[in-house]
Amino acid sequence: MSIILRQNVRGVRAGDGTGRQIGASLSTGTDPGPLSAPYVMKSSPHVAVVGATGAVGIEMIRTLERRNFPVGKLTLLASARSVGKKLTFRGTEIIVQELTHDAFAGIDIALFSAGGSISRDYAPSAVKAGCVVVDNSSYFRQDPKVPLVVPEINAADVASHHGIIANPNCTTAITLMALYPLHKAFGVKRIFASSYQAVSGTGAKAIEELEKQVGQIVRGEPVTREVYPHQIAFNVLPQVDSFLASGYTKEEMKLENEGRKIMHHPGFKASVTCVRVPVYRSHSVAVSAEFEKPITVEAARTVLLQAPGLDVVDNPSASEYPMPLHTSEKDNCAVGRIRMDCAMDNGLTFWICGDQLLKGAALNAVQIAEELLKLK
Ligand code: A2P
Repeated sequence: MSIILRQNVRGVRAGDGTGRQIGASLSTGTDPGPLSAPYVMKSSPHVAVVGATGAVGIEMIRTLERRNFPVGKLTLLASARSVGKKLTFRGTEIIVQELTHDAFAGIDIALFSAGGSISRDYAPSAVKAGCVVVDNSSYFRQDPKVPLVVPEINAADVASHHGIIANPNCTTAITLMALYPLHKAFGVKRIFASSYQAVSGTGAKAIEELEKQVGQIVRGEPVTREVYPHQIAFNVLPQVDSFLASGYTKEEMKLENEGRKIMHHPGFKASVTCVRVPVYRSHSVAVSAEFEKPITVEAARTVLLQAPGLDVVDNPSASEYPMPLHTSEKDNCAVGRIRMDCAMDNGLTFWICGDQLLKGAALNAVQIAEELLKLK
């Protein structure tokens, strides 16, 4: 498993090319209004990945290559610690540069995944330099001027950006891949959900921590920890992110808050328990949803079979259902265990898995960049 993991997380190949800059000018601090309308992105943009050495950053580089995104030039930015490190893109080695406020000159699209405080501090500099930011952090997600987008759900919202587009929380994006098509057909009122979140969602250091703890336990050594408040190996932690006064964590409220914005459904309610599990990659979510309209398993299955980016894996008699091992490194999410909820009227219960480094982060960000290219 650890060998596969190293390949997954570190086996990046990255390229080069030449791009020309477009002059989208934005001031920050005051509302700049939408970028010049109609806003047209050049066909071979100069792309930057901010946090290029991280678990998501590396997947962003791989996803740009895998989907043949028409990168004119790729710039890789990370902390001073990583300067000089080489990552490969399309067979060419690219040297990682230090993220500074001046690093965005000539860059058209910047995919940020270096944490909320980096996005807060550096995204305005990128926008000021004429760059469109696709931000994977939570920092801008609730800003009314910042579209929050899952392209399969609300791609049209990309057009209303003011220089920054937010990528949703990973658990939210994965859950909505099944919930939104059901909402369109049956009108979701509320959900009760529990997540089973992989350690790679926390970042590269958490992957190392799980691997290290497994080794320590197997060798009978004392367990050391740095990232999580408790041992994660052979354990589950009912805490993802910090606690709010309500007793929920910040992560738990993202499904309701971000779900409302993405689905354009202000009345949507979600009661969620987020749990970190000793899984390297791919999140799972158990969801019980209540709908306005009557629903059946057959009608739900028909809807889900047609949903983009989603596989239906649901053959309980053969023990076939989605599992994180199967959805790792896959673009599509998978839904199964579809059944009538026995405790709610018009209720459906299901289980969904998805690679949170891909649909929950890098893939969704690159899909948003693809939508930017379509703006006319
Ligand atoms: P670095 O590798 O140089 O620390 P992860 O989520 O896997 O922990 O990755 C976080 C990403 O964010 C890494 O690429 C990391 O770079 C980057 N990062 C963290 N702190 C900074 C910073 N102060 N400036 C620029 N990049 C940063």
